[in-house]
Amino acid sequence: MQSLLVLGRQPALGLAELESLYGADKLKAVGKHAAIVDVDPCMLAFDRLGGSVKFCRLLTTLDTTDWRKIEKFLLEVSPEHSQKMPEGKMQLGLSLYGFNENLKRIEATGLNLKKAIRATGRSVRLIPNKAAELNAAQVIHNKLTGPTGWELVFIRDGDKTVIAQTVKVQDIEAYTRRDRERPKRDAKVGMLPPKLAQVIVNLGAGKLPGDKLESICDIPAGQPIPRKLLGQTVLDPFCGTGVLLQEALLMGYDIVGTDLESRMIDYSKVNLEWLGELYDLPAQDYPLAVADATAYDWRQTPFDFVAAEAYLGRPFTARPDPQTLAQTIADCNLIIKKFLNNLGGQIEFGTRLSLAVPAWQVRNGEFKYLPLIDSLSDLGYNRVIFERVQDKDLLYYREDQIVARQLLVITRK
Ligand SMILES: C[S@@+](CC[C@H](N)C(=O)[O-])C[C@H]1O[C@@H](n2cnc3c(N)ncnc32)[C@H](O)[C@@H]1O
Repeated sequence: MQSLLVLGRQPALGLAELESLYGADKLKAVGKHAAIVDVDPCMLAFDRLGGSVKFCRLLTTLDTTDWRKIEKFLLEVSPEHSQKMPEGKMQLGLSLYGFNENLKRIEATGLNLKKAIRATGRSVRLIPNKAAELNAAQVIHNKLTGPTGWELVFIRDGDKTVIAQTVKVQDIEAYTRRDRERPKRDAKVGMLPPKLAQVIVNLGAGKLPGDKLESICDIPAGQPIPRKLLGQTVLDPFCGTGVLLQEALLMGYDIVGTDLESRMIDYSKVNLEWLGELYDLPAQDYPLAVADATAYDWRQTPFDFVAAEAYLGRPFTARPDPQTLAQTIADCNLIIKKFLNNLGGQIEFGTRLSLAVPAWQVRNGEFKYLPLIDSLSDLGYNRVIFERVQDKDLLYYREDQIVARQLLVITRK
């Protein structure tokens, strides 16, 4: 009973998220791009995983990475397997992760496979690769996860090849709608991508209460997965326009949100109302308040964990001069440090915090971090140790971005 997940653009974030929800003992990295989770696929809440792009059924593992041998194996077994599918034209796609085969070679394998399957009397449409792997849009558009679809995924894992079949891909349309169609957006406070918001919430949530989740296999195909209430509350003390609150709500959490600016609280309210209509959530008055995170007392609205994109300082489109950078780092460090001090007096031992905090790319791939990262223990917190991921990789950024987001997961000690 295992699930294979193909990880997103920054695989370490996807791995950390899975480790957080299911535990390191249930998790095995497969090559650089995938992971096997020892969880019943029916119970794997794929829709809430921001860091995994494909959810696959494991088919087999071959003791080779030689593409000729892999193709030979496919030609032997695929025609028979294709007979088990419902009648009708079949859609076939291939996705390779960690191989060096060029597109011509991949296409040749696809055409050979198509020929072998057609020899059994079934017609086949081969989806051409624009890259070694098909992206989520191609998988959805070509119905590769439908009853007559077949996306075969090949993952190089050392001297072995794991072969899997895609069952689901991230619902990119839904993510885009939640990101772009929100009535209130603000470029100044930044645009937290909903997928990253999900990762931050998952890192804060820790282990999932399995008994509270529903088997997704009981839900008829094409029906949305009903939102299951988890009975836990998340606090975002820097809620801004409410992206993280939005995602947390859809993931089944109750929410508490505060922000220094009243305009932001108004924006969060409008956005949450819009989300409620879009997803048919019960109408609610969410606990949102204007509050300075360095001084506010949240104890009137109890919460179980904290998940937030903290104050990131000035946005930069070009590298700042050293003095400006030093001032920005000092400003952010002070606010976040004061916040941690303030919150520390209000939460119990073990309470978990997942914070996206700023880090600055000073040269290509070289970052400056908040000084407080080195004094977390003095501030009364322990850093959560991930077994499958190194701390330095918990960093979200695009190559040309100056302000990156460092994902900091800590507990009150
Ligand atoms: C990077 S933004 C968070 C954006 C948010 N994730 C969203 O979905 O829009 C940081 C937020 O922290 C708020 N902020 C800055 N200083 C604060 C403080 N001392 N207390 C509370 N909020 C603060 C800003 O108003 C801003 O909305």
